[in-house]
Amino acid sequence: MARIIVTAPQMPDALDLLRDHDVMGGDHFMTREELEEAIVDADAVLSSLSDPLDADMLARAPKLKVIGQCAAGFNNVDIEAAGKQGIVVTTTPGVLHEATADLAFGLMLMATRRLGEAERLVRAGTPWRYDHTFMLGAGLQGATLGIIGLGQIGEAMARRGAAFGMDVVYTARHDHDTSAVDATNPATATTRRVDLDELLRISDVVSLHCPLTPETTHIIDSAALEKMKPTAFVINTARGACIDENALVAALRAGKIAGAGLDVYEHEPSITPGLLEMENVVLLPHIGSAARPTRGVMSALSARNILAVLDGKPAETPVN
Ligand code: GLV
Ligand code: GLV
Repeated sequence: MARIIVTAPQMPDALDLLRDHDVMGGDHFMTREELEEAIVDADAVLSSLSDPLDADMLARAPKLKVIGQCAAGFNNVDIEAAGKQGIVVTTTPGVLHEATADLAFGLMLMATRRLGEAERLVRAGTPWRYDHTFMLGAGLQGATLGIIGLGQIGEAMARRGAAFGMDVVYTARHDHDTSAVDATNPATATTRRVDLDELLRISDVVSLHCPLTPETTHIIDSAALEKMKPTAFVINTARGACIDENALVAALRAGKIAGAGLDVYEHEPSITPGLLEMENVVLLPHIGSAARPTRGVMSALSARNILAVLDGKPAETPVN
């Protein structure tokens, strides 16, 4: 029986699979102090994306064999330190990209068609009537969708964009096979890789789908925002720190871009001052993958990864 720390509220899909082990947690968010104490004799940790699994934390865990991160991103884990200690780190790719792309697409629709603003107006009891010239937003057909990071989520977003008649461009470290995107809509089948400058210049919607790394931290900064069209929108379902949010607020105030849709925040869960006051910003509480079936499958995959490593077998989805 292994000692498994579950750092945050978890779905039964994970807890059921781990039931033969000595499981601690799974019903609340552990504080750093709690985790520091618990990790000392842990064989495994089922972690959440805000857990500080840095080198200091891992140094306290001599018995730790596996971290089952229940998320796509793992920027909260010191992979190098884990590797040095022989700790296997796993994440949950391949199971949440469709749900997250749905959310990103929803944010794009909300921002470009002013859906949050329109709904607030109705709820506030503001008088309105059908008016040909009222609440006009941007259209998506024929617009250019710029995807930063064409991984699984970026590709799923690209397919949705193509299906809605958008032209798709992307940045990535290397060329990707975009035949699945192009097959979605033969009329828009010209998906191509461009450099970041060109993407920023030509896109009507810029959507972030990259991991948070030193290279992508503040990839959208004031210089990047300056290059965007004044009619363009930025959508972030990746990690908050990919955007310099102070620069975003300044650009929105100055009309350098038209709007933004955010599911993640630089200082999450704090919202950078200024964003809350702007009608052309849509704000969601980090729910990218929060479709019930998706969250269940993510939980089960994290638990299976942990069980495999504890059993001396290869993990299904390791990152190191
Ligand atoms: C969510 O943000 C994830 O990384 O899964
Ligand atoms: C709008 O409701 C329309 O009929 O065009």
